[in-house]
Amino acid sequence: MAKADVLLGLQWGDEGKGKIVDVLAPRYEIVARFQGGPNAGHTLEFDGIKHVLHQIPSGIFRPKAKNVIGNGVVLDPVVFKKEIEALKRYNLNLKENLYLSKKATLIVPTHRLLDQAYESAKGEARIGSTLRGIGPAYQDKIGRLGLRVGDILLDDFGERFRRLTAQHVAILERYPITYNWPQLEEEFLEAVAFLRQFNLTETEYLINNELKNGKRILAEGAQGALLDIDFGSYPYVTSSNTITAGACTGLGISPRYIGEVYGVFKAYCTRVGGGPFPTELADETGEQLRRQGNEFGSTTGRPRRCGWLDLPALKYSVMINGVTQLYMMKADVLSPFEELKVCTHYRLNDGSETDIMPFNLAYEQITPVFRKLKGWHTPLNNLKNGDALPAELENYINFIEEQLGLPIVLVSTGPDRLQTFYRHAYAL
Ligand code: GDP
Ligand code: IMO
Ligand code: MG
Repeated sequence: MAKADVLLGLQWGDEGKGKIVDVLAPRYEIVARFQGGPNAGHTLEFDGIKHVLHQIPSGIFRPKAKNVIGNGVVLDPVVFKKEIEALKRYNLNLKENLYLSKKATLIVPTHRLLDQAYESAKGEARIGSTLRGIGPAYQDKIGRLGLRVGDILLDDFGERFRRLTAQHVAILERYPITYNWPQLEEEFLEAVAFLRQFNLTETEYLINNELKNGKRILAEGAQGALLDIDFGSYPYVTSSNTITAGACTGLGISPRYIGEVYGVFKAYCTRVGGGPFPTELADETGEQLRRQGNEFGSTTGRPRRCGWLDLPALKYSVMINGVTQLYMMKADVLSPFEELKVCTHYRLNDGSETDIMPFNLAYEQITPVFRKLKGWHTPLNNLKNGDALPAELENYINFIEEQLGLPIVLVSTGPDRLQTFYRHAYAL
């Protein structure tokens, strides 16, 4: 029996997971999404093409990889149809290379409306949800009310859809939300008809059979560990388990068959939406990071909040996920800075210092304790595998490795597939 490797984000999302999954996909027979839904935006760049995927796994551009949307995902058929249509021009063999779990939960149009209603009712305390219906869809899943992908093949689907959405409409009456229901319903049912032509199957069998046959599987995380429903900065989180364990429940893989865990992180930090962010820079340096890193949401276009690297947060993510190797992204973004800062500890309200994630991160006035490091001050975009890294960058990497006790195997120096640098010691 082979083991499935898991790739996930160690921060608040948008670490560059999509790029790395696309880079690694030729080594895998299957790439599988295990949680989240259209809240994700995973960007791939190669041959002058830039493409953002939301629900479809990032292995889709590699002709030999089978791509699986697992049972842990919440799938919006309307977004799915649009994504498939946007992929048409690449002539990919989607009917053959894409498999959807019959057990994945469906996002219905009223989930999006409920997301909007709940968010606006929260006022200042809003999460900053992507408004894609993620929270309400997972609520229905856990509340045992949800509809699943496999249900669209059954005769009573229309009836069950109307029953569920009528319940939602009754709730929506309490909120000042306007919408055109006939139009939303028509769009949804059309998208459901479209979805029926794809491979809707028991993907847990597919995956376990492939593992039995020694095939390699890469599980692609969405969001990031600090947005995990259990271990993230609750309540400013998403509604799924974004951590390694999510790959087991979201695909039907036993924990015994998890292999490597690739932890992807940016050389600094970003967060989009509300919630605590200890190293956030609300100043010109933060602006510079945003400009330099083009830090605007891939799904919503919102400006991302930016700050220095946060080691206590990374240590926590490494622990919860059982990370075995680290991938550091966007090193090029730090090139203009003469001096870099890395947060090693948090100073709490009572003056004590800790490198442990406090329970009440959202309420504690954390002051980050920084270690200053010299910047490399050299562009990295044209670096090729085999070239030596600037000494200051090596130093930055070594410091993080020492702190986290894990190797940084890969350094990304630009958005393109080719701007990917394997460190000599770990050349694959
Ligand atoms: P994901 O959600 O984790 O897949 O990440 P996103 O695609 O939302 O955000 C990452 C952004 O950074 C995308 O625009 C990528 O094209 C870009 N990107 C990825 N790696 C690098 C890198 O090493 N350098 C730079 N400058 N951009 C990168
Ligand atoms: P990828 O996969 C960054 C954030 C939202 C909000 C919170 C809850 O591209 O890394 P939700 O719509 O899930 O209810 O929003 O989570 N969020 C993300 N932030 N990247 C993502 O995905 C995100 N998906 C959700 O901004 O703060
Ligand atoms: Mg993203």
